[in-house]
Amino acid sequence: MRKVLVQTYGCQMNKLDSALISAALEQAGFRLTDNTDEADVVLLNTCSVRQHAEDRVLSHLGHLKHLKKNRPDIVVGVIGCMAQRLGDKLLQHQAVNLVCGPAQIPHIVDLVNEAVEKTQKNLDIADNIRQRDLENDTALEQFESAHSSDDRQIPSQAFVRVMRGCDKFCTYCVVPYVRGPEHCRPPEAIIEQIKKLADQRIKQVTLLGQTVNSYKYKAGDRTYYLSDLLHTASGIGGIEWIKFVTSYPIEDHFDEILRVMAYSPKVCKYLHIPAQSGSDKILRAMNRSYTAVQYLDLLDRARAIVPDIAIAGDFIVGFPGETEEDFQLTIVLLKKAQYKNAFIFKYSPRPGTTADKRLEDNVPSDVKQKRNIELLAVQNQISSQMNQSFLGRKVQVLVEGLSKKPHLDSAGSDDNLQLVGRTATDHIVVFNGPQSLVGRFANVIITKTSSLTLFGRLAT
Ligand code: 5AD
Ligand code: SF4
Repeated sequence: MRKVLVQTYGCQMNKLDSALISAALEQAGFRLTDNTDEADVVLLNTCSVRQHAEDRVLSHLGHLKHLKKNRPDIVVGVIGCMAQRLGDKLLQHQAVNLVCGPAQIPHIVDLVNEAVEKTQKNLDIADNIRQRDLENDTALEQFESAHSSDDRQIPSQAFVRVMRGCDKFCTYCVVPYVRGPEHCRPPEAIIEQIKKLADQRIKQVTLLGQTVNSYKYKAGDRTYYLSDLLHTASGIGGIEWIKFVTSYPIEDHFDEILRVMAYSPKVCKYLHIPAQSGSDKILRAMNRSYTAVQYLDLLDRARAIVPDIAIAGDFIVGFPGETEEDFQLTIVLLKKAQYKNAFIFKYSPRPGTTADKRLEDNVPSDVKQKRNIELLAVQNQISSQMNQSFLGRKVQVLVEGLSKKPHLDSAGSDDNLQLVGRTATDHIVVFNGPQSLVGRFANVIITKTSSLTLFGRLAT
């Protein structure tokens, strides 16, 4: 039996694709492994969102090229966004046997088998990713519903894609060019999939879309929105928590989504809603279709409808033309937004995007670095302060696994390992308890907090 290692880089979409690919390969008779030494096939599921993500994959490929000197039979495949972006260039890499784009994953078993048997190099990417291909859409839909998307790393959790691709064309972003046009899956397929996952004892599903709140599906004279999916999914027995990422700040029907969040105990009170910048000038240059004021209004509305909602944001610092003044406006927005946490990225020009074609990457890297550190410091202070309000409170968590230091404070007992879980509001909680709790809900009393983590002890 051949063994496959699937290594995932990047976002939740990639994690989901990896789960589907792993399930398909297993069904075709392969065994999964985490160990490169025993793998016959290594698949790298790659990310193109920043140059740094691509560099990590290229360095991994360099390592595999070295490994292949002693083990020439090992098959190396590159899948995901880099595969679609770089195609043939990647295939020419000495280590690489096959390249498969994100829209071609239904072919993965055949591609791997061909590479193993014939040791021929194989390229399978979309010629024109922005062109809708109905036949391929059907193949993707079948692949998606045929294979379980449970998260192999985190028991009891699964991702469910509600839409593919993106049509927003933010000027810095490579996603529309590697994942293709926005395409919403039929609601019945999504609900069916969640029911199947519930039968497999999945407790938390995360609905995925690049702009998940713009989900819209017309069937006859009815239009289904994300709020409808959340409402229907809330009725599925066994599913306890429903999350959804990532939201775009301006969408019709946002309030309906918030209202479902307010009334359904299963819809987690958590919103990941990137602002990207606090400067209207930069937002315009990014082709984000809102102003800082509109963005903050939306957060106010969210908090009015769902008072205890936790909100996370993304920011890009050092976008072309970002002056110190623009950056100060971002700090102002960050302070007003009161995020639970924020992900901050330095602008990285992506070939083919409008920003790369039309705008000079003119903020020096040391300035990007300085702004990154400064923004992070402001956020850390906010997060620390907000987290302190958890002290002494009892929170419910879904236990994800052992923390990075499982034996810390464990007193050598397997019943008292250091575990990590997350609350419905996406707060990370570290506490001690038995391994048998992994994949289950637990109540934890918070005894210590930092900017990133809550610490506590199991409630008795
Ligand atoms: N450079 C830096 N950050 C980027 N992001 C997307 N594209 C780029 C880029 N070219 C960030 C955005 C997005 C997150 C997933 O990655 O903040 O929300
Ligand atoms: Fe990229 Fe913008 Fe689409 Fe998000 S909404 S995937 S940032 S183009």
